[in-house]
Amino acid sequence: MQRTLIILKPDCVQRRLVGEILGRLEAKGLTLAALKLIQVDRSLAEKHYAEHKDRPFFGGLIDFITGGPVLVGIVSGPEAVTVVRKMLGKTNGVEAEPGTIRGDFSSSKQNNLVHGSDSPESAAREVALWFTPGEIVDYELAGSQWVVG
Ligand code: RTP
Ligand code: MG
Repeated sequence: MQRTLIILKPDCVQRRLVGEILGRLEAKGLTLAALKLIQVDRSLAEKHYAEHKDRPFFGGLIDFITGGPVLVGIVSGPEAVTVVRKMLGKTNGVEAEPGTIRGDFSSSKQNNLVHGSDSPESAAREVALWFTPGEIVDYELAGSQWVVG
């Protein structure tokens, strides 16, 4: 089992799509390991997106991600990093394939609803950045042998 970090971004919360997105992740067979609704401060946002600090869109990205509450979480499952990235689709909602979360709900490069860690190394860094070990719950879902086999 692999863990990955998800952030349901401010546009997702404001558009009342939280239930829809969590429903897709659950239906896929991913397990929720942590979830919290928080208002992100600029310091945490800048650490999370540090790889983009020299990009022209960085300031706007930090404004966006701190512009309202986010639901940040950890999901686990087989190949969870790759599975979540595939479910999200391409960064730009205009280019993302129908059937993906961004392809179905976003028409924007910035306002693309959900973040997913882009590698196992990123997932480990981001999980440690957003959660303390005590906030992460390890458990087995009833009937999981019918889902992941
Ligand atoms: P994320 O990190 O949020 O999961 O998205 P991603 O890997 O698909 O895309 P990334 O290249 O890491 O970009 C991070 C976020 O920055 C915003 N963005 N804006 N205005 C622009 O040109 C631009 N490019 C990227 C998006 O919110 C993107 O998800
Ligand atoms: Mg990224």
